Amino acid sequence: MIALVARAVAAVGAGVVVDAGAGTGQYLAAVLDAIPTAVGIATDVSVAAAKRAANAHPRLASLAADTWKGLPITDGAADVVLCVFAPRNPADFFRVLAPGGHLVVVTPEPDHLRSLRAAYGLLDLDPDKDTRLEQSLTGLFELVSSDRLTWPVEATAEQVADVIAMGPNAFHGTPVTGPERLEIDVRCRTYRRLEHGANGDGDLPQREAGKHESRADVDPASPGVVELRPGR
Ligand SMILES: C[S@@+](CC[C@H](N)C(=O)[O-])C[C@H]1O[C@@H](n2cnc3c(N)ncnc32)[C@H](O)[C@@H]1O
Repeated sequence: MIALVARAVAAVGAGVVVDAGAGTGQYLAAVLDAIPTAVGIATDVSVAAAKRAANAHPRLASLAADTWKGLPITDGAADVVLCVFAPRNPADFFRVLAPGGHLVVVTPEPDHLRSLRAAYGLLDLDPDKDTRLEQSLTGLFELVSSDRLTWPVEATAEQVADVIAMGPNAFHGTPVTGPERLEIDVRCRTYRRLEHGANGDGDLPQREAGKHESRADVDPASPGVVELRPGR
């Protein structure tokens, strides 16, 4: 799956890659390995995750930032925004992307972790999620490619616990009983940023125009934002 994501990003070329909700930064690190000229910005609402990501690759900077509140990144500074199993803010992704930039989104398909969800009574996937994704991107992005990837994985009990902890069931404290055979079933979609936002005059939809204009590229002084560099 990491290779699929790295290929998807490399296919659209990239100078600055932002990974929103990057977690440990493993996807962004693979992307940077695949594109030797690229640099990355990992963002995550979890300070612990942002600290982990800061050490994931030498060409990566990491920020603790809430995607819902808007990324502390200058308008048009990114060539690619990557979002793997993490919250999306389409209007803000549109804002931080340069004209012609791309958004790469990885989401679970209906069979993703089906047996694990059944065995542990985990939350079901939202059956309308694809419709909601498309609706949220309409007027901002156009679909360029869509690839589905499925394969089985033999997971240890520890890996099963990690998978549960990474999902929306993390707070349920579900006890793990042993190893499991998991089905990975995901879709990787690549979108191109449209030249103008939904209203056709360049103003950002769902956001007040100019709201982000005074933000710095990386602004540790912004409330809730921590600048982290490898080695700290
Ligand atoms: C399922 S994990 C995916 C992590 C990473 N993209 C990966 O696939 O390995 C979801 C990530 O989104 C982060 N997250 C959740 N809500 C967020 C928000 N509002 N803003 C930024 N990150 C968020 C979590 O801290 C977590 O690291």
